[in-house]
Amino acid sequence: MASFDVIIIGGGPGGYVCAIRCAQLGLKVGVVEGRDTLGGTCLNVGCIPSKALLHATHSLHEAEHNFAKMGLKGKSPSVDWDQMKAYKQETIDGNTKGIEFLFKKNKVTWLKGWGTIPAAGQVKVGDEVHEAKSIVIATGSEPASLAGVEVDEKTIVTSTGALVLNKIPKSMVVIGAGVIGLEMGSVYARLGTEVTVVEYLDAITPGMDAEVAKAFQKILTKQGIKFILGAAVQGATAKGGKAKVTYKLRKDDSEVTLDTDCVLVATGRKPYVDGLGLEALGVEMEKRGQVKTHHFATNIKGVYALGDAIVGPMLAHKAEDEGMALAEILAGKSGHVNYDVIPGVIYTTPEVASVGQTEEQLKEAGRAYKVGKFSFMGNARAKAIFQADGFVKILADKDTDRILGAHIIGPMAGDLIHEVCVAMEFGASAQDLALTCHAHPTYSEAVREAALACGDGAIHA
Ligand code: NAI
Repeated sequence: MASFDVIIIGGGPGGYVCAIRCAQLGLKVGVVEGRDTLGGTCLNVGCIPSKALLHATHSLHEAEHNFAKMGLKGKSPSVDWDQMKAYKQETIDGNTKGIEFLFKKNKVTWLKGWGTIPAAGQVKVGDEVHEAKSIVIATGSEPASLAGVEVDEKTIVTSTGALVLNKIPKSMVVIGAGVIGLEMGSVYARLGTEVTVVEYLDAITPGMDAEVAKAFQKILTKQGIKFILGAAVQGATAKGGKAKVTYKLRKDDSEVTLDTDCVLVATGRKPYVDGLGLEALGVEMEKRGQVKTHHFATNIKGVYALGDAIVGPMLAHKAEDEGMALAEILAGKSGHVNYDVIPGVIYTTPEVASVGQTEEQLKEAGRAYKVGKFSFMGNARAKAIFQADGFVKILADKDTDRILGAHIIGPMAGDLIHEVCVAMEFGASAQDLALTCHAHPTYSEAVREAALACGDGAIHA
């Protein structure tokens, strides 16, 4: 048995960041993690491996479609799927080992095994019970199941199985046009798989600014991905390495069955809190399965929760921010997360990124706003890399010019969004961005031009 100031259950981005910050603030910290490696879903079977596959397959796309145009001639590369998976695994290993190193550096103890909370102030790992003044539930999330769809992680897979398919399928049906479906759908489409995305709603990427979502769908369609919208999947079955997916069209209730080599179920995730003993402990839960919290505190004294296990967007960086804020609170400081400025990024090509309000949200709230839009067609760098299809859209208050949201579809959108995030944190106006010198030639000039378009107009439009 050991005694700690804080024991964190879960070594993902929420948990490990909280642990490192707690240690930096002088607290004695233990992290319970049952996987063989630290980093949680994000590093092991989520954000990081998918980005490795996106990078590899984007490179393939460049070789197949753009190299010759740039005068790079010769045999186009062939795909060694096992090597691509090995590269992906090396990327994972490098990152998970990095967290282990940071734990050692900061003197965070890794309590290996799966944890339960037998009582407030106690965490059980294996046969050992450890004591802690504060306990943090940072157990993340797992893929949500879908009625009538039986996942075997071979033919009918979640995002986890989609990272390690035995072979590249000839065809794939993706259920759900959300972030996972479109990122992994892109990977396989670039590898030559015939990808069909079946989505319940009438648009892709729910919650995204509608204009961006429409442009995004058009671009992905051009890349060869097929969309069936307004279709509720009723079930999926696998037999002999093949699968059948049945969906019902919402407009006329007609039922259609698709035959395919592989099905990716990407219909959302749910908090992973099973087996922690929360019910016996009397921890209050939300109706949708999250741990109920107020400033990260549960109703049980000394027990806290964060990340995907609580309410809010299921994003690694939201969990990280909460981890830092909670560490500050536990160390007697004032931790804070600004939930109004949490960016969202989809790492397809082009990337899609957003922060703040969408036009639809502003309309619904009855807020007077103006729109500054700039197409990457007017951006020299984007044109040079054949990625001029997208645009930057900045939404600002009609009277005060304060930035209310930004939506970008285009090259490096996931990085570009952050200058808008910083601006929003400082309560900046669109003019503040417009008057800031941006280096030429950079993609970021498109952000400035969109800000200029909120005022007297963009220059290169
Ligand atoms: P999602 O919630 O983004 O999308 C799920 C989609 O499935 C929705 O469009 C929904 O309408 C559709 N759907 C649900 N039931 C259906 C049915 N029966 N038939 C047809 N369509 C149906 O969920 P996703 O993509 O699984 O992602 C899970 C979480 O992981 C999200 O919170 C996402 O933000 C996060 N994530 C974030 C990434 C990033 O930041 N780049 C990458 C991967 C995941």
